[in-house]
Amino acid sequence: MASPTNFSRTQIVLHWLIAALVVFQVISGDAITSLWQQRMEGTIANEAIPTPHTIIGIAILLLVIARLIIRLRRGIPDLPASESALMAKIARLTHWLFYLLLLGMPLSGITAWFFGLQIPATTHALAKYVLIPLVLLHIAAAMAHHFVLKTDVMRRMVDWKQG
Ligand code: HEM
Ligand code: HEM
Repeated sequence: MASPTNFSRTQIVLHWLIAALVVFQVISGDAITSLWQQRMEGTIANEAIPTPHTIIGIAILLLVIARLIIRLRRGIPDLPASESALMAKIARLTHWLFYLLLLGMPLSGITAWFFGLQIPATTHALAKYVLIPLVLLHIAAAMAHHFVLKTDVMRRMVDWKQG
């Protein structure tokens, strides 16, 4: 199957919606951590009550599954031809690591939250030390593409007109 020349509108909307929701998850991390500690210490009942962090986290899981299905069916545009083999490899690796985190974090969170288990909770909390540096690297790469390398990589993730 030939690669498409652009990201579809749905792919672009999903990218930015998921990005915004992931930022919300990081911001709401302190609140859920303190709630979790109270559950583990027995200050409150060890029950899976709905919270903004858990509801949004489950929504991210569903949106990422939809995004992966679209990616497998429609594909994504090729990286710019000017990209070196090493940089292209790093880009592909970071994108797949994102998908792994975007599936693994909700799944570990759900397992911890609904079954009251500490090990998946600890794994989930530690994953932020991979997620946050990866987001920063990703933003830096997008900026470098736009301002230094002057490729169309940023434009194709924001350009609404391309259908
Ligand atoms: C992509 C989705 C998600 C992201 C990016 C995310 C991110 C985070 C972050 C950054 C923290 C704070 C960790 C810390 O500061 O130590 C956290 C804690 C937590 N999250 Fe999530 N989360 C997601 C989905 C979920 C879901 C779906 C659930 C449950 C239904 C959940 C349950 C929890 C729990 C229980 C904690 C406390 C863990 C602990 O302190 O050991 N999260 N999450
Ligand atoms: C200001 C923040 C962000 C900027 C400027 C940005 C920019 C971009 C750009 C320009 C692309 C297109 C790359 C290409 O065409 O090959 C892209 C792809 C991607 N971004 Fe972001 N992004 C941001 C935040 C995020 C966040 C928070 C996540 C996930 C946690 C994320 C996950 C991804 C993934 C997985 C891809 C690969 C798409 C695919 O190949 O299926 N991005 N991003």
